[in-house]
Amino acid sequence: MQSTKRVLVVGGGGREHAIADALHRSPQVAEIFCAPGNAGTAAIAQNVPIKDGDVPALLEFAQSHRIDLTVVGPEAALAAGIGDAFRAAGLPIFGHTKAATQIESSKEFAKKLMAKYDIPTAGYRSFDNYDEALAYVSGRPLPAVLKYDGLAAGKGVVIAETLDEARQALKDMLLDSAFGQGRVVVEDFLTGPEFSFMCFVNGRDVYPMPLSQDHKRAFDGDKGPNTGGMGAYTSLPFITEDDRQLAFDRILRRTAEAMCAEGQPLSGVLYGGLMKTPAGIKVIEFNARFGDPETEVVLPLLQSDAYDIFYGVATGQALTSPIAWSEEVTLGVVMASQGYPGKYEKGHAIRGLENVQGRVFQMGTAIKEDGLVTSGGRVLMVVATGKSHREAQEKAYHDIEKISCDNLFFRHDIAHWALEGKEIEAEK
Ligand code: AMP
Ligand code: GLY
Repeated sequence: MQSTKRVLVVGGGGREHAIADALHRSPQVAEIFCAPGNAGTAAIAQNVPIKDGDVPALLEFAQSHRIDLTVVGPEAALAAGIGDAFRAAGLPIFGHTKAATQIESSKEFAKKLMAKYDIPTAGYRSFDNYDEALAYVSGRPLPAVLKYDGLAAGKGVVIAETLDEARQALKDMLLDSAFGQGRVVVEDFLTGPEFSFMCFVNGRDVYPMPLSQDHKRAFDGDKGPNTGGMGAYTSLPFITEDDRQLAFDRILRRTAEAMCAEGQPLSGVLYGGLMKTPAGIKVIEFNARFGDPETEVVLPLLQSDAYDIFYGVATGQALTSPIAWSEEVTLGVVMASQGYPGKYEKGHAIRGLENVQGRVFQMGTAIKEDGLVTSGGRVLMVVATGKSHREAQEKAYHDIEKISCDNLFFRHDIAHWALEGKEIEAEK
């Protein structure tokens, strides 16, 4: 096959490095551009200094560089209308319209859709008035689940254990507009293991990816503050094939159909953040894009041509053959800057990547005169593949030992849910 295709990947984190890596394996792809990219994408793509939310500049670049396909990573670019602008200009783009992106950007939109189409999720009420919200929360059991209704960079969800905490969170969200002018969704508190189910959606057709699990807390044993994700792995022993099929039929496929019925068809990734509760699998949240760090463990398993899939989704065509995935297990450990998710330093030298046997996806790195340095909170993700979780875990931590940097930390227990054979049913 002749390599002729020119692809633009929008974004600059580990997720985009993994997307670029999948496209780099396609025999059709001749050239990849990454805007803005990072030091990792620079090895397989040409980085372009355009911010991921600068829609007019990205459009101009795609037109002037005869880009055949644009693949969007971050939600901010979708919420800024990149999908609409490219479609209006007749350019194929893998990424939803702004209206369809509401499935992620507005909690209330997602909740209303799920209620209307009988998609299982936690019960809820939404408020724009502080006193009414507080009165409602005061009359209910704790913990209280409070969600700001808009994009809040992962910080818009508070699980308040006490009424004081709930009062403070409602004050931040409704009186002080810490995230902007939005409503607050108050949800029932659910329990059980969480997992991520991502699908490619080209309007009505829905193609599942392997399941994965993220590790949101900063420290071992799921302790410490919530982060963007400290590691992930595939092959979840606590989700049966029946669970997976039910989640696919009742949640992912039904949601794609619902979005069509609402006149807002999806065109990109639908990410279900799901929980296996004692009452069945329910939606915790939807995202309108690839998860990060889930993508870094899922896309390495892709055996089909990534260009065919992304292009089919972008142009609304059904795939002509099933998507092939490796049966192996992947496990990835994030190396983050000391202090993350709070304040952290940048510019610390990173050495030893050339000695790693598995993959390293770069999340927050830059190249300076004397080499690779840290430039973000999450810096690297080391991903290993194996026949079992144990094997993949040993390989990943062995690779981590080869990397030296004086300002990074990581969790030592990625995939503990799978390895400890932990109680797999939801807590009763
Ligand atoms: P979200 O940003 O919506 O994914 O929420 C962040 C985290 O809060 C989730 O990963 C869950 O661990 C937790 N969470 C969100 N909603 C609920 C809920 N209804 N019940 C229990 N935990 C929740
Ligand atoms: N890993 C969670 C997310 O991408 O939102």
